[in-house]
Amino acid sequence: MTTTLITGANKGLGRETARRLLAAGHTVYIGSRDPERGRATAAELGARHVVIDVTDEESVAAAARTIEADGGLDVLVNNAGIEGRTEGNGIVAPADETVDTLRPLFETNVFGTLRVTHAFLPLLHRSAAPVIVNVSSGLASMALVTDPAAPAHGYPGIAYPASKTAVNMLTVQYAKAFPRLRVNSVEPGFTRTDLNGNQGTQTVEEGAEIIVRMAQVAPDGPTGGFFDAAGPVGW
Ligand SMILES: NC(=O)c1ccc[n+]([C@@H]2O[C@H](COP(=O)([O-])OP(=O)(O)OC[C@H]3O[C@@H](n4cnc5c(N)ncnc54)[C@H](OP(=O)(O)O)[C@@H]3O)[C@@H](O)[C@H]2O)c1
Repeated sequence: MTTTLITGANKGLGRETARRLLAAGHTVYIGSRDPERGRATAAELGARHVVIDVTDEESVAAAARTIEADGGLDVLVNNAGIEGRTEGNGIVAPADETVDTLRPLFETNVFGTLRVTHAFLPLLHRSAAPVIVNVSSGLASMALVTDPAAPAHGYPGIAYPASKTAVNMLTVQYAKAFPRLRVNSVEPGFTRTDLNGNQGTQTVEEGAEIIVRMAQVAPDGPTGGFFDAAGPVGW
């Protein structure tokens, strides 16, 4: 039996990933910072739930203790993330980007991913087939953001792409440090969720495809890579 924790799984891509991994036979923990939203989603899907705010050290430690006491963890999906749009749903322009606008993105997307990974690594090391999936973005890709032919080139903001590029560095460094683990970054593609005011062009079913696939990567499958549904993504 494979046990999987998905952070930020009460809605969006995390929820759809949970639905699909449950169907594939995983025992899934819906990670949610809000207890009620997590409980409701878990009840709808037939999953377990655990409160986890990735920006809160004690919340993450408590979630790790709970899952350890229940029997451990095989797959960690670091999915919780924010894009940090303005109230009008606009992207902060480079001229308006400050340390204060950047900080929340790094707190959640980068420090959150590192905090959760650090807390759950001891559990993953005890798994027979440990896996980490870091939900990154095409906007993390220096190759795409600097390619005038790529849609990512047109994204004006600094904070979100910079945070996801940092997530990709976590992926490659963890992958090298822990060769027994499969650690990969994934790019779901532009997907209709609350993150982007539901402006994405893909459904959550399409967006979750590569997250679900890499959560089920075989022990001899790739590690330290960056993938979308079509294959490897340039760094
Ligand atoms: N949608 C896209 O086009 C797209 C493209 C590329 C990558 N991604 C990435 O995909 C991941 C999922 O995003 P989504 O599109 O599904 O967005 P979403 O529907 O807004 O879901 C984001 C999830 O993260 C949770 N979250 C935010 N801050 C958190 C915190 N501090 N602790 C725990 N959970 C937290 C949210 O919880 P609440 O409900 O409590 O806010 C929610 O469950 C993100 O990492 C995002 O960057 C999305």
